[in-house]
Amino acid sequence: MCGIVGAVAQRNVVPILLQGLQRLEYRGYDSAGLVVVHDKQLQRARSTGRVADLTLKSADISGHLGIAHTRWATHGVPSERNAHPHMSNASIAVVHNGIIENYEELRTRLTAQGYVFTSDTDTEVIAHLVHSHYKNGATLLAATQASLAELVGAYAIGVVAADNPAQLICSRKGSPLLLGVGKHENFIASDMSALLAVTKNVVYLEEGDVAEIGLDAYKVFDARGKPVTRPVQISELTNDSVELGEYKHYMLKEIFEQPQALANTLEAVCNSQSLIPGIFGAEASAAFAKIDSILILACGTSHNSGLVARNWLEEIAGIPCNVEIASEYRYRTSVSNPNTLIVTISQSGETADTLAALNHAKAVGHAHTLAICNVPESAIIRQSSLRFLTRAGPEIGVASTKAFTTQLAGLFLLTLVLAKLRGKLSQQQEQQHLHDLRHLPSAVQAVLKLEPAIKKLAENFANKHHALFLGRGLHYPIALEGALKLKEISYIHAEAYPAGELKHGPLALVDKDMPVIAVAPNDTLLEKLKSNLQEVRARGGELFVFADANTKIQSSEGVHVMQMPEHAGFLSPILHTIPLQLLAYYVALQKGTDVDKPRNLAKSVTVE
Ligand code: G6P
Repeated sequence: MCGIVGAVAQRNVVPILLQGLQRLEYRGYDSAGLVVVHDKQLQRARSTGRVADLTLKSADISGHLGIAHTRWATHGVPSERNAHPHMSNASIAVVHNGIIENYEELRTRLTAQGYVFTSDTDTEVIAHLVHSHYKNGATLLAATQASLAELVGAYAIGVVAADNPAQLICSRKGSPLLLGVGKHENFIASDMSALLAVTKNVVYLEEGDVAEIGLDAYKVFDARGKPVTRPVQISELTNDSVELGEYKHYMLKEIFEQPQALANTLEAVCNSQSLIPGIFGAEASAAFAKIDSILILACGTSHNSGLVARNWLEEIAGIPCNVEIASEYRYRTSVSNPNTLIVTISQSGETADTLAALNHAKAVGHAHTLAICNVPESAIIRQSSLRFLTRAGPEIGVASTKAFTTQLAGLFLLTLVLAKLRGKLSQQQEQQHLHDLRHLPSAVQAVLKLEPAIKKLAENFANKHHALFLGRGLHYPIALEGALKLKEISYIHAEAYPAGELKHGPLALVDKDMPVIAVAPNDTLLEKLKSNLQEVRARGGELFVFADANTKIQSSEGVHVMQMPEHAGFLSPILHTIPLQLLAYYVALQKGTDVDKPRNLAKSVTVE
């Protein structure tokens, strides 16, 4: 979703801004723009194309202070006039990520004061508001603070003024923003990947913080305007981790990074002889002792990992578990139980709906909150009392892959820790699970060897418009995830059903043009699943079956079987995810879609 970069330096900042925007492209956007201050004037370039187009358009622009933005349209269509930065009276320029909820009311008031609006965005009110205070003599900092006090909603913003050539003001509330600290130059960005070429020193802003940034110094003020010190940290992100390397797409790179990502995520556990609650935070022991149920809140792929975990938590740890879409939970009147552990799952840790659901849960009396997240210092991590960091590394492809499987690894650990605390895990079972977890990265590596065969299989989908995914039990959420991957990146309409539901509706859709993809592990539901597959074959449906060894499901006319390794027990959903990711990827390649940046979607959805 929208990305922000800003810089104040002794050198021309345009290349820094453009490179930063390029690094933020993965977040998803439909237009881009930048402004620099040059000779007391604002010079602006905007484009509805990619950042590469903006680079061409800004060839004649230079300056030592600037802000830049990639926009994912919310208010107003993607167009040049709606692209950021927005300006007021050639004096103030603003970039903004988030949504200003009271913008209509502010717009009416500012219009009455004589301000002329040139876009349909909510952001433009911020530029005029800042101008209205600045023209009356307030400093840029004070004008911004006064403006923010009038805004309702979520924002990360960067502000510059034409007559203030070495000062950048920024603030965040509900949307991510950080400071990059350099030598005689300083920066702002939505995430650190944008700044890796210029600094590794990062200051994470807290909710409501406002910062005044100059060449040699910066000051941070909290939401009440009190000066505060926020620690400078050294980012662990490396350039390599955000570069494509030998791969054609980030998605493929990230699929193949899964063995390492899982090994990193499981490192602490695999090196120890037993499981301890401390892996979820210092207070985990005390909190876990008090809880009697679990509520998982998440969106998209992260929600699917929660659905797998519910099966584990109830079967292995014997703890009741519900899973809810975060955007539904936040607006629903639910019955809260203070002894429920709230688990939020999020790759980015910034998803607005998940964050709001977490805050809603806290507001209705839930004290025990655990975040399972891939981004340290993200809002969801900071606002939860307990945390587990998946160590997947930066995930750039919009369609989530390695974040999903590492979330599953984290959720399996949670299951085992709770099972142990609740006396449901013998020492022998614990050792067996630890053994299986240690083996997991190499098991995933083995499944990745199916790549050439799946690439071939994908050719069958090039002309299809619909697909049905089937799974049962622990693997129904994997069918959901497979369908989500396929629709996200290939634009083929894909649905997932628990195989037992087939005859209650979707069977009506099955004919020779409806490929049916089945996840077929060698588990207790196998025989039931085989009967469901017969129902498909009997109606002429073409089957694509990912079957564990020893399932005795053979390829035949209209039945394509992809042989998986031995059944991996409780960890099987992780292995069965891999071929479905590869299938979606190669079908998308066949269709020639933009794999890493599918249309209309964003990586990090920081608006409601
Ligand atoms: C967006 C992304 C999905 C992701 C979802 C939740 O829709 O495109 O890939 O699963 O957000 O994101 P989160 O960062 O909270 O896991």
